[in-house]
Amino acid sequence: MTHTSQELATFCKQKGFIYRSSEIYGGLAGFYDYGHLGTSLKHNFQNAWRGYFLSLHDNFHEIEGSEIMHENVFKASGHLENFVDPITKCSECQVNYRADHLIEGAIKKRVEGLSPEQLSNLIEEHKIKCPHCKSDLMPVEVMNMMFPVQLGVDGSQRAYLRPETAQSPFVNFKLQFELLRKKIPMGLAMVGRAYRNEISPRSLTLRQRAFTQAELQIFFNPSKVNEHPDFEKVKNYPLQVMLQEDRESNMVVERSVTELVERGLPKFYVYHLAVIQKFYLEVLKIPKEKFRFYELDDKEKAFYNKNHFDIEIDLNSQGFTEMGGLHYRTDHDLKGHQEVSKEKMEVVDETTGEKFIPHVLELSFGVDRNVYALLDLNYHKDEQRGNDVLALPSEFTPFYCAVFPLVKNKDNVVGKAHEVYDLVRKEFSCFYDQTASVGRRYARADENGTKYCITIDFETLEDESVTVRDRDTTEQKRIKIKELLHYLRENK
Ligand code: GAP
Repeated sequence: MTHTSQELATFCKQKGFIYRSSEIYGGLAGFYDYGHLGTSLKHNFQNAWRGYFLSLHDNFHEIEGSEIMHENVFKASGHLENFVDPITKCSECQVNYRADHLIEGAIKKRVEGLSPEQLSNLIEEHKIKCPHCKSDLMPVEVMNMMFPVQLGVDGSQRAYLRPETAQSPFVNFKLQFELLRKKIPMGLAMVGRAYRNEISPRSLTLRQRAFTQAELQIFFNPSKVNEHPDFEKVKNYPLQVMLQEDRESNMVVERSVTELVERGLPKFYVYHLAVIQKFYLEVLKIPKEKFRFYELDDKEKAFYNKNHFDIEIDLNSQGFTEMGGLHYRTDHDLKGHQEVSKEKMEVVDETTGEKFIPHVLELSFGVDRNVYALLDLNYHKDEQRGNDVLALPSEFTPFYCAVFPLVKNKDNVVGKAHEVYDLVRKEFSCFYDQTASVGRRYARADENGTKYCITIDFETLEDESVTVRDRDTTEQKRIKIKELLHYLRENK
């Protein structure tokens, strides 16, 4: 059963997952807050991401960089010059629009990466008008998306809020390389906020002006781009991909890792496509048919990328939507920083004696978009139960279980419920609830994603057993308290 993004947004607000920031003052476009449940879900995603990607190699590490960075960082990275979006303004009501999105909405075709002139021509050719007042639109221009910050009392020093977490690992590269005993490959991961002055923020947290990214920058020897020590383990793994040539048929095609290498993609790159897909299918439990890698063409690729596939999920409320990307950034960034900072970025591979500026493979993920996807794909209205259900995988759900006394006015039942609650919460995320009817409590638990509801009743007092209700089947089982932890461990 599907739902609209508005329905999902209403659900998220009512339950305390996500809602507009500064809401008591009318909100601020493109900014969201996470409530108690949303924060827990987001942390669970971030922990799963860290656990999975940092354990890919013993020389992968997490760092934390500053959110405000020196102007020269973005001169060197190319963001000052190239990090722009096309914008068109209504000649009458002066509302600004992101030109490519406006055109895509009108002609139902991807136009990302076209020049301002080409976009202006499309507006004219298709007679696209201001959606607000139907007046003519002005020629397309570009706008830099970074937020400048004026530092100091007189505001004389200009810096920028980072538009991606990636630049911290790049400017930290040389120091971390020395600190980590000069070993290559080396991975530097960051989980943190990024800021972009989006022209049209929209769709809850999918397009915000402040959002969280989880990115891993792998610095490697460019002469080894066509190898990976674990390649054999994944060579037959079937990847869900939409290459440029598949766009006409609009088909996602299953192609093995080896087939993509035979088509010319570097082994190091394709190995990481496999690793990413496994994360989505096996950890986030995204159904295979809802996942794809989307190959970008030369016009669409980010300005720093040689190879660029987007990671996309088919959201119930939106269709296929970008969640992240696998970016082969080559030596674009380190070279740029070497030029502007005069700090040498060259290193020696101690295993081969080769000297080079490392190349970078970037595994990039939008945390808020992935959290949105977990909510979107696991949320449904259950007609039979008469309430919403959030069937999140157990690893991600804010509460794995809940403990209820059947009645709240019998001391011995309530006392026993507290005893069980204390036992369970030592090992699992758990909440205690004794308000309203048990039916209402079950509904509330379904809505916040709780996998098991444990109810203590009069029988418990006689035989030390409780009922355990499963969120997904609504089936109830009688389990002895002494076997409860084992049951909860074994039935995740
Ligand atoms: N370091 C590479 C980089 O930043 P990107 O494709 O611009 O690449 C990476 O961003 C991911 O960050 C996207 O795939 C998306 O999931 C997320 N993202 C980008 N802009 C966003 C926005 N305005 N709101 C929410 N998430 C965003």
